[in-house]
Amino acid sequence: MNMKKDVMILAGAGQIGMAIARRMGYGMKIVIGDKNIENAKNISDILNKAGFDTVAHEMDLSSRESIKNILVEAQKYGEITMLVNAAGVSPSQAPIEAILKVDLYGTAVLLEEVGKVIAEGGTGVTISSQSGHRMAALTPEQDRLLAMTPTDELLSLPMLQPENIGNTLHAYQIAKRCNVKRVMAEAVKWGERGARLNSISPGIIVTPLAIDEFNGPRGDFYKNMFAKCPAGRPGTADEVANVAELLMRPQGAFITGADFLIDGGATAAYFYGPLQPQEK
Ligand SMILES: NC(=O)c1ccc[n+]([C@@H]2O[C@H](COP(=O)([O-])OP(=O)(O)OC[C@H]3O[C@@H](n4cnc5c(N)ncnc54)[C@H](O)[C@@H]3O)[C@@H](O)[C@H]2O)c1
Repeated sequence: MNMKKDVMILAGAGQIGMAIARRMGYGMKIVIGDKNIENAKNISDILNKAGFDTVAHEMDLSSRESIKNILVEAQKYGEITMLVNAAGVSPSQAPIEAILKVDLYGTAVLLEEVGKVIAEGGTGVTISSQSGHRMAALTPEQDRLLAMTPTDELLSLPMLQPENIGNTLHAYQIAKRCNVKRVMAEAVKWGERGARLNSISPGIIVTPLAIDEFNGPRGDFYKNMFAKCPAGRPGTADEVANVAELLMRPQGAFITGADFLIDGGATAAYFYGPLQPQEK
């Protein structure tokens, strides 16, 4: 291989991931990993035809080995300076165990493994969700367990056993809460390398994942949510990229270990407005 370039790892070849890669990745080598190689190839093709330099790889976020493989491949092109993690499954797409393995454990492993190789000055964002913000507060001990438990012990925590989870929405919410906690803990380690890491918690963003939710068992709930939130509409992947751009560019140099809610005010309306759950 000849010319080395700065490398972006894009995990998850969905709409949100592509929007961020498109905003941030021009001039870099973008290594796109997705469990569904067709998704990765599609996004790779769209970006390459628009002047970007990307390559598609099969990668399973729930497998440490798969993550390590893509990092080895990526480093052949140059130093990893950016991570965008937008891979995941939603409550209507997968059972409890799969949501925990992909969204909770997989994200934790990815942040850890990239944190071992991220270049000085590097930045990362991982996509969490407003859904984690709607879940009631956990105890300080539970938060600490989600933040600090070694990755390979995470799925053995009693609080994460399927019998203590109940349903896929709760699994998703706790996975997303965990993402935010892991970002805080990992940002400390990334900081030792001169790198920054943040998370973004979007509300309803129109993507295939959200469309699955609109057509799933909670479809009416979601449609009501965007109709009654202050913005009165769902958001777009490009609006998520606006936040990612601030977090990943030098303007965001003082921001690390943080989580940004971008939900059109849905969480505010859920706690203090027309989206409050009805009293039983
Ligand atoms: N769309 C929304 O409304 C919304 C809201 C909040 C959070 N999010 C989060 O944003 C992220 C991206 O979602 P999106 O809406 O762009 O969805 P999307 O369906 O467009 O993309 C998700 C991608 O992740 C891939 N993926 C699934 N399991 C994987 C695995 N085990 N390993 C590797 N890749 C895997 C899928 O194949 C898909 O290409 C997810 O983490 C999701 O939870 C989305």
